[in-house]
Amino acid sequence: MILTGKSNIAGVMGWPVGHSRSPRLHGYWIEEHGIDGAYIPLPVSPERFEQALAGLQAAGFRGVNVTVPHKERAFSACDTLDDDARRIGAVNTITFEPEGAIRGSNTDAFGFMENIKQTVAWPGGAAVVLGAGGAARAICVALIGAGATEIRLINRTRARAESLAGDFGTIISVYDWKNRFDAQSEASLLVNSTSLGMTGQPPLDIGLEALPTSAIVNDIVYAPLQTPLLAQARARGNIVVDGLGMLLHQARPGFETWFGVAPEVSPALRTFVLES
Ligand code: ATR
Repeated sequence: MILTGKSNIAGVMGWPVGHSRSPRLHGYWIEEHGIDGAYIPLPVSPERFEQALAGLQAAGFRGVNVTVPHKERAFSACDTLDDDARRIGAVNTITFEPEGAIRGSNTDAFGFMENIKQTVAWPGGAAVVLGAGGAARAICVALIGAGATEIRLINRTRARAESLAGDFGTIISVYDWKNRFDAQSEASLLVNSTSLGMTGQPPLDIGLEALPTSAIVNDIVYAPLQTPLLAQARARGNIVVDGLGMLLHQARPGFETWFGVAPEVSPALRTFVLES
């Protein structure tokens, strides 16, 4: 693609950024739709985040995604924030408005729930969430928005789960990591938001005997696509949803805003992103 003076330019800021699949993902959609534009990986160190943001705005970028370790810093740097960014306390999508404002949004909760919806309609009810990092926070926002009556939050470091629960009120109850087996009774959804099960990490050590076979099991880990958790859940008859779709769907709102086309998550896109 030869860029023109009218090209729409966006990118992803991370440190490091080399592992990010976002350039491949957005690049696919740019090609698919024949868009005059580009999406660029931007290695930005934490100390230079604000300087880089101002520079990109001055250079006429339409916006940027932000990934680790910048999501909280981006939250503080934006002039306006959408409701999910405020609830999650982090920003993953920034748009430079024509009038000069820097708008921050968080599309992780949207991406999480869209991914589940592509496979199955979650009826609400009690959900079990493993992990209490940034991803867990976005997942709690999504679950509350989609009709959770109770979220059982389980994290190795209990204090971190308590801090998250404190921000959301009584809908979240905190369980000890050692009680992760017992917390599953009558749950309609179980999500792993820890890094356990990822290539190079130990598997998530969890028995699913107490989980109803009607429950949905989702892992946000997508490398490998079929984690030990998902294999175990599938074998006992649960509906399983892998983690790749969350990454793909969270990218849709930013792409539409910056490039003016609503993109689709297709099987071909999944294959293309996994090939990287
Ligand atoms: P993210 O923003 O992607 O959620 P994170 O903030 O680094 O990433 O959170 C990683 C999650 O994986 C945390 O819940 C972490 O538990 P702690 O809060 O106790 O650190 C969890 N995790 C990572 N390694 C783990 C392990 N070996 N056993 C249990 N939990 C683990």
